[in-house]
Amino acid sequence: MRDGRNELCILLLVIFLSFDSTIGSCTFPTSLTGNWISSQKGTLNFTSTSLYGYPMDLTVALKSVDFDCMEKNDTLYILKSQTPAPLFGHSFDIYLCIDLHPVSSNKFWYQVGQDIEPLTGVRYFAAFENTVVTQATVCTRSTPYEDVTFNTLVKEGAYEAGLIEATCPKSILHTFSNGTLTSSDSVTSCTNVTLDVCTDRTQMRYTYDASCDPSLTIPSDGMSECLYYITNDTSGITYLHVWNNDTTLPAGVSRINCYAYERTGDVISGTLYPGPCDPDQTTSSVPSPGIIIQYDTITKTCQETVESGSQIIYYVAIAIGAVVFILLIILLICVIRHTKCRCCKKCCQKCKKKNNQVGQSDEQLTSSRSTGMTSVEDGVDPYLRAVEHSEKINSITFVAKKPIKLGPIIEPYLEPPAKVELLYEVEPRPTSSRLMFNRSMFFSQLSLRHKE
Ligand SMILES: *[C@@H]1O[C@H](CO)[C@@H](O)[C@H](O)[C@H]1NC(C)=O
Ligand SMILES: *[C@@H]1O[C@H](CO)[C@@H](O)[C@H](O)[C@H]1NC(C)=O
Ligand SMILES: *[C@@H]1O[C@H](CO)[C@@H](O)[C@H](O)[C@H]1NC(C)=O
Ligand SMILES: *[C@@H]1O[C@H](CO)[C@@H](O)[C@H](O)[C@H]1NC(C)=O
Ligand SMILES: *[C@@H]1O[C@H](CO)[C@@H](O)[C@H](O)[C@H]1NC(C)=O
Ligand SMILES: *[C@@H]1O[C@H](CO)[C@@H](O)[C@H](O)[C@H]1NC(C)=O
Repeated sequence: MRDGRNELCILLLVIFLSFDSTIGSCTFPTSLTGNWISSQKGTLNFTSTSLYGYPMDLTVALKSVDFDCMEKNDTLYILKSQTPAPLFGHSFDIYLCIDLHPVSSNKFWYQVGQDIEPLTGVRYFAAFENTVVTQATVCTRSTPYEDVTFNTLVKEGAYEAGLIEATCPKSILHTFSNGTLTSSDSVTSCTNVTLDVCTDRTQMRYTYDASCDPSLTIPSDGMSECLYYITNDTSGITYLHVWNNDTTLPAGVSRINCYAYERTGDVISGTLYPGPCDPDQTTSSVPSPGIIIQYDTITKTCQETVESGSQIIYYVAIAIGAVVFILLIILLICVIRHTKCRCCKKCCQKCKKKNNQVGQSDEQLTSSRSTGMTSVEDGVDPYLRAVEHSEKINSITFVAKKPIKLGPIIEPYLEPPAKVELLYEVEPRPTSSRLMFNRSMFFSQLSLRHKE
């Protein structure tokens, strides 16, 4: 009895302790586990509760930090360094606040919710080891965070698998020509650049002029994939992150690049920075090695047909089609009735003839009846009669009129729907029945029965 009670006590204690240990820990979204390419920090390794190797240039010896998820508040994750870090001769706990938003199971965007620490130029918060902290003390940055500082996370291998492309912002769904690229210091430039976002609405395709210096051709293969964008409605500036598909990235160029642009009429003014958007990046100036971009001419608009005017034409086309269809049916009915009448007429004529004959044969019949005999020669075999009849119908040949050519009244152009990204992966789950009656169980039961 006593032993049992002790066991119970120990069990309760263990349960209590395990509850206690879960306080101050949290888990990341399930799909986040794995390696991710970030717009700012290279490749990041997430597990369900930890973030490994987050680059932080804090001291000569400390270049990256491993974090545990400590607390979660809605989309805000507070991370704490796994081990205290030696800074300025003391031991510090390092904290990171990440405002994390899923776009799909292969793409997230986030903001770091801390001010830039002036000495290191890095967004983080450090507190003396074992100091009790709250969200308010750790997440020092005031909200709303500036749009320009957002970051993108793309799952490793997802681009190659074609899982990350997004439809580009509507304002650039055009083909632009007569573009000019200028270096951030305005020294080098080239003209006659074309940008095509119509051929594939998820891609920005450049045609560079032969005169363009390699420092201006970002991306060098002329192809970027749209990932995610945020538009500041007040300023009208769109911050667009794109995937740079260059096989080898030149020094200083990241996989994820940022456009900051605005469109006024046909004119697009913007800048491209070969990394996440720079806080100092505007639509007209950008730090080196960014480039300034200007397009003056739109030569093609790919989404024009969604406007209501052209939709009316489309509906009219449908209405005309319906009317033509009804007319065709009426025509068909007339033709059928007409041929039927002709048949009837022939039938009638035949019937009349037959009736005359039958009248005669009736007389014969009555006469033969009266004589007690049946006429054989006039009673034509009904089968033969039917064959003869059908042959007559077949002999009436219809000469089909040449079909009226209904040419393309209008070529309806339907805009392909914007690419929809699934927030969560759909994985087939084993059904409960399959779990309950799994095969081995069946077999073992069967074998048991056999043994019996
Ligand atoms: C992520 O980091 C953990 C701990 O260092 C390691 O065990 C794991 O293999 C890493 N995952 C990947 C995909 O590199
Ligand atoms: C969660 O965040 C909101 C706003 O960011 C804040 O007002 C609230 O106090 C936080 N909750 C906790 C438990 O920290
Ligand atoms: C939007 O732009 C305005 C004007 O430039 C700026 O004051 C504001 O902070 C921006 N908002 C965000 C969320 O970045
Ligand atoms: C191209 O741009 C230049 C300067 O911006 C302008 O002079 C020229 O007329 C433009 N050409 C076309 C075809 O729009
Ligand atoms: C502009 O580029 C096109 C090819 O993209 C070329 O055919 C054309 O001659 C160029 N025009 C000028 C003025 O250089
Ligand atoms: C991206 O680059 C790879 C390798 O350079 C190439 O095979 C692939 O076709 C490119 N993707 C697109 C959409 O151009």
